[in-house]
Amino acid sequence: MDVVKTKLWIVDEKMDIHNTCPQIKEAAMWITDNEVVAFPTETVYGLGANAYSDAAVEKIFKAKGRPSDNPLIIHISNKEQLQKLVKRVPPIAEELMEVFWPGPLTLVLEKGEGIAERVTAGLSTVAVRMPDHPVALSLLTEANTPVAAPSANVSGKPSPTTAAHVFEDLAGKIAGIVDGGATGVGVESTVLDLTTDIPMILRPGGVTREQIEEVIGSVAVDPALEENGQAPKSPGLKYKHYAPQAKLVLVDGNDEFIQTLVTKAKEEQKKVGVLTTNENAEKFHADVVLPCGTKDDLHTVAQHLYEVLRKFDQYDLDIIYSEIFPEKGVGKAIMNRLTKAAGGDILKSN
Ligand code: TXA
Ligand code: MG
Repeated sequence: MDVVKTKLWIVDEKMDIHNTCPQIKEAAMWITDNEVVAFPTETVYGLGANAYSDAAVEKIFKAKGRPSDNPLIIHISNKEQLQKLVKRVPPIAEELMEVFWPGPLTLVLEKGEGIAERVTAGLSTVAVRMPDHPVALSLLTEANTPVAAPSANVSGKPSPTTAAHVFEDLAGKIAGIVDGGATGVGVESTVLDLTTDIPMILRPGGVTREQIEEVIGSVAVDPALEENGQAPKSPGLKYKHYAPQAKLVLVDGNDEFIQTLVTKAKEEQKKVGVLTTNENAEKFHADVVLPCGTKDDLHTVAQHLYEVLRKFDQYDLDIIYSEIFPEKGVGKAIMNRLTKAAGGDILKSN
């Protein structure tokens, strides 16, 4: 791996998108020069490269250590850019864009001409979204090209929700990072496949199934998301992801049951962590107890989830027990990520 000097541009997250600041101008110029630059979106930080350059996109895969069969999402700042990226825009896509763009909904459509081969990993479809973040929109507008961007983490680690997380993973491996503060949603966009007869959710995310169904009626969900053992249709989802260094165990049981597990592990000389919520944090006696938002508002859990998963790595733990969350609304995305981080299993009390 070539070592590069990583430049940091600090910008105001509430910037005026119509009045591009010099930092964004420079970052955008680097993207048009086929360098890779990390930037904030409303979901997580992305690692961006010119979607029309194979050489630029190759740098993303190299920096992240990303498997080459895992395609990238293309980010755009205006709908005109979409026309060139896809074969056609079906009416259903128009309806969804009208309601959810800019925002955390990625649409999978039939691929158009000219996109770098590496972006779509050989598939005949392409994933596109318009992020709802002034820094991202300003950068994309200024670069004046569609930008392929996966989450800006090393493959396998939790996605970054601050520029510091990106720096931790990718300093010395990428050209630059635009620091626009902490992201808002905290989990990635929902990936919706519009190339099937019935639209299908391939990855739950920031826009919920309920919200989508209010606009276009009932949608399908990739069966692999519900049952173990099936190959997911979204290539990225087959890889272990979001995992902290310590073993993570999800527990379907009350706080007394979780505390019993903690006490037992401590008797076995293990260093134990608990992932919980603000309201329950006081109830546990472990080496490290980290609250992640409040159960009354799952958006706060989504917002802090990756930060908390990363934080556990500072304590050299053997095992982390985590509460589970109701699979409603954004809870679906939270449980999808937690289950992947835990390697699939949930421990039930009985
Ligand atoms: O919120 C997000 O979506 C963030 C920010 C940076 O925009 N990006 C993101 O990218 O999460 P990444 O690469 O970490 O996840 C992209 C997901 C992967 O699961 C990938 O397999 C899937 O989208 N994907 C991309 N293109 C696809 C396609 N043509 N068909 C099916 N799945 C696709
Ligand atoms: Mg990712």
